[in-house]
Amino acid sequence: MNILLLGSGGREHAIAHKIAQSAHCSQLFIAPGNAGTAEVGKNVEMNPEDFEAVGQFAVKNRIDMLVVGPEAPLVAGIADYFASNPLLNNVMVIGPSRQGAMLEGSKDYAKAFMQRHGIPTAAYRTFTEDTLAEGERFLEGLQAPYVLKADGLAAGKGVLIEPDLASAKSHLREMLQQRKFGEASASVVIEEYLSGIELSVFALTDGNHYLLLPSAKDYKRIGEGDSGLNTGGMGSVSPVPFADKEFMKKVEDRIVKPTVRGLRDEKIDYRGFIFIGLMNCGGDPYVIEYNVRMGDPETESVFPRLKSDVVELFENTARGTLESCRLDVDPRTAACVMMVAGGYPESYRKGDTITLGNEQEGVTLYHCGTRRDNEGRLLTNGGRVMCATALATSLPEALLKSYNRCHGIAWEGRYLRRDIGQDLLKLMQQQ
Ligand code: AMP
Ligand code: GLY
Repeated sequence: MNILLLGSGGREHAIAHKIAQSAHCSQLFIAPGNAGTAEVGKNVEMNPEDFEAVGQFAVKNRIDMLVVGPEAPLVAGIADYFASNPLLNNVMVIGPSRQGAMLEGSKDYAKAFMQRHGIPTAAYRTFTEDTLAEGERFLEGLQAPYVLKADGLAAGKGVLIEPDLASAKSHLREMLQQRKFGEASASVVIEEYLSGIELSVFALTDGNHYLLLPSAKDYKRIGEGDSGLNTGGMGSVSPVPFADKEFMKKVEDRIVKPTVRGLRDEKIDYRGFIFIGLMNCGGDPYVIEYNVRMGDPETESVFPRLKSDVVELFENTARGTLESCRLDVDPRTAACVMMVAGGYPESYRKGDTITLGNEQEGVTLYHCGTRRDNEGRLLTNGGRVMCATALATSLPEALLKSYNRCHGIAWEGRYLRRDIGQDLLKLMQQQ
């Protein structure tokens, strides 16, 4: 099978790594990819949001399967573009239709979907510039802290957690009147604050059946102890120790099953990943958000644990026969530590030379923002540069191996958080 994977991050390197191991994969292309994906497939210089270019490439290279890594092409309707073109409608697309992708593309749509299907989530209301005064009154009826969410895609920056009523009101005005997040904040969801521990749960669905992938936890803030600015993710751990059988049964019964049933009942074409951001509130799961793709850097700790042939899983996803598949998962723990450019997530340098150090047994490096220059030198090319994932029989051991590998890697200004997984270890000690 010829496979085209869209995206350029660590998520795509981890997915590409698994696809390349499949007996069903003859050729793997990644667009645009990074220096890591170039080691497992062929990078293609192409913008994943340029559907015409992607379609022409697919025809010319006899692509059988399109795997979509990031959300933007899905929200813009790449699955529909392929389905409606006679030259492309036989390509298996892993990723939902535009309507399905609205679960991530519009917070208001996602909240209304959850409400229709009785899926536990924070109480909410949605406001626009015309209903600003009502929004302010709604805030007055809530308790601090206040959660404001731009309705549309805002590159992961559209959620504000405000400590007091005055700042919540002023940010609400900025979002609605001054379009603080552009058109994404023309509508704003205000919701009840949920307090608890977050985790990420992933399902692969063909629209009727689903397979639950291993759970993971990511670390979003730049600073240790979850301080400082939000980032794309500074590390991840899979599985999540507190997501035991009992908790995961609640997640499946209360959230995953009603979600898949809801998609089916509403006749939404959804063949791909559902990423459910959850809050564990005293043992009960609540949905914080849906994403319509895998997480980054969660994929870098979830995918190394998949022992099943992912291309086989994808094929059954596209054909609607996922019921016939079983998922084989490595029981070991994966710990992923992200290394970033100095200054990230604010302004940072690109083009610094990376030295990789020695390979280590049981540790995989996934590239995020990297490229090679004409002489083949490996250079930084993004904020998140690369991560190391180790598999081991315990979380402390996996963390140790991952950090050891990171210590061998250098570039000017390289930064990592030294406390990935520490909150989980503390929790385990308390139990
Ligand atoms: P989202 O983009 O919806 O995932 O929101 C970004 C982050 O804001 C989440 O990962 C949570 O840490 C936090 N967050 C979002 N919604 C809530 C909520 N209702 N209560 C508490 N924290 C929230
Ligand atoms: N790690 C969170 C995300 O991919 O959105």
